[in-house]
Amino acid sequence: MTDTSHERLLVIDFGSQVTQLIARRLRELNVYCEIHPYQNVTNAFLAEFNPKAIIFSGGPDSVLRPGSPRPPADSYECGVPILGICYGQQVMMHDLGGMVEAGDSQNGFGNAEYGRSHLFPSARPIQLLNGWFSDGSEQVWMSHGDHVSRLAPDFDVFGTSANAPFAVVADPKRHFYAVQFHPEVNHTPNGIRLLKNFIGIAEFDRDWTIGAFREEAIEKIREKVGGKKVICGLSGGVDSSVTAILIHQAIGDQLTCVFVDHGLLRMNEATDVVSMFRNHYNIPLLHVEESELFLNALEGIQDPERKRKTIGKLFIDVFQKTADAIPDAEFLAQGTLYPDVIESVSFTGSPTATIKSHHNVGGLPEKMGLKLVEPLRELFKDEVRALGRELGIPDRFIGRHPFPGPGLAIRCPGEITLEKLNILRKADAVYIDQIRRHGLYDEIWQAFVAILPVRTVGVMGDGRTYDYACALRAVTSADGMTADTYPFSHEFLSETSTRIINEVNGINRVTYDITSKPPGTIEWE
Ligand code: XMP
Repeated sequence: MTDTSHERLLVIDFGSQVTQLIARRLRELNVYCEIHPYQNVTNAFLAEFNPKAIIFSGGPDSVLRPGSPRPPADSYECGVPILGICYGQQVMMHDLGGMVEAGDSQNGFGNAEYGRSHLFPSARPIQLLNGWFSDGSEQVWMSHGDHVSRLAPDFDVFGTSANAPFAVVADPKRHFYAVQFHPEVNHTPNGIRLLKNFIGIAEFDRDWTIGAFREEAIEKIREKVGGKKVICGLSGGVDSSVTAILIHQAIGDQLTCVFVDHGLLRMNEATDVVSMFRNHYNIPLLHVEESELFLNALEGIQDPERKRKTIGKLFIDVFQKTADAIPDAEFLAQGTLYPDVIESVSFTGSPTATIKSHHNVGGLPEKMGLKLVEPLRELFKDEVRALGRELGIPDRFIGRHPFPGPGLAIRCPGEITLEKLNILRKADAVYIDQIRRHGLYDEIWQAFVAILPVRTVGVMGDGRTYDYACALRAVTSADGMTADTYPFSHEFLSETSTRIINEVNGINRVTYDITSKPPGTIEWE
């Protein structure tokens, strides 16, 4: 739980894949909120957290299963508005005396529903749905197996869909609201309005701004660190850069940055980072060039998880050795973001379980005997960018696409070799240059080249070539959790392909990856 002076909303997480989006939407509405897994939310926790409103998230379980997740009983007693979403709706109905039945999507007789649906109002309007139904109905996103079959006492129906007679139910007197669909996803286009109405009902001040965050963060860093020294690992990415600059503003030269060059960086990245931090910001920086060490350790490894583990372990070793040489350091700063915090807590072993080991989180501070400073722990990526701007970091830097901790290693499936990395770096530089020249960089969440572990035959001039194939990747996304392929024109793609093949020795075939996430991932590992 974070110490904050803001009014706060508690999201009790029952394990939905999209719980984080609830928090994002609320932050967009200037409301401070925290997500906590249901197991941690006891009556005592609730009393200490003192929320101004509560949201029950969706989740994969069934309330009909004995032992399935529940909110603490006091949720209904503490007198604050509650919004239940999907599984959260079923929990609320079940807890308060209604009935939930199992759906069956197979035989067509049940009420299981997945995907877009249209919601219609009931006769009586309700504050939660202000601004809805101006065209008669609203598109909503359903994703549930079970359904409510009988309302809890004092509840009424305020919205229905073809398959969901209890799509929106409420007891407006107690300010208990429950919806069967997911208002937090983009596929419910007016969902943000519903959430805005909910926080209006809860009478939030809406005082969460990035300027206020910065002031508070600087104060907290000073308080926590006192006169001690802090080490910050820089990766060249926006998160660690913003962390470093924020901490530098708070405690000046008590901060030393460490930049480990693992040889898996993009073209010119190391020079850019070093010159920005040393020359522009005047922040003490140790630049450790260890690419040979990393490449030797990666030799012959094909398995993606082993690659990650190897890089992670070595990174810690190198970092630790460097940091040990900084006398009296007591704190380690990390650019951990809110999604990292949540993704790293795989609390059910169910579908939200961690899909792959995250290079940047965990392990390091314990091993080094350092205490952690993670000033961005509560922020989403777009909030980090806003904070960066607030701190005066140039737009061109702030707007940079995210770059993963394990770097090009997760864009080089199969064995990693220096030869492949050098080819990849060149191709990537040409591709990004193309994107910038065409003014598309800021429309794209992430774009990069992956070098494929296949060589194929080609013809160039009069000669036969036998070179690598590469894949171009470009996606749009709000948070990296889901992503769509960027719709480049054919002209752009063929011009880029021609440039890469002409300018990069070692590649004779260019493909464009048109897989969305899910089912794909953004990276290629
Ligand atoms: P995937 O490939 O899982 O990536 O769809 C989602 C987002 O996460 C980034 N990513 C990482 N970032 N350390 C990071 O700092 C990592 O280990 C890591 N793995 C994936 C990826 O670049 C994309 O933005």
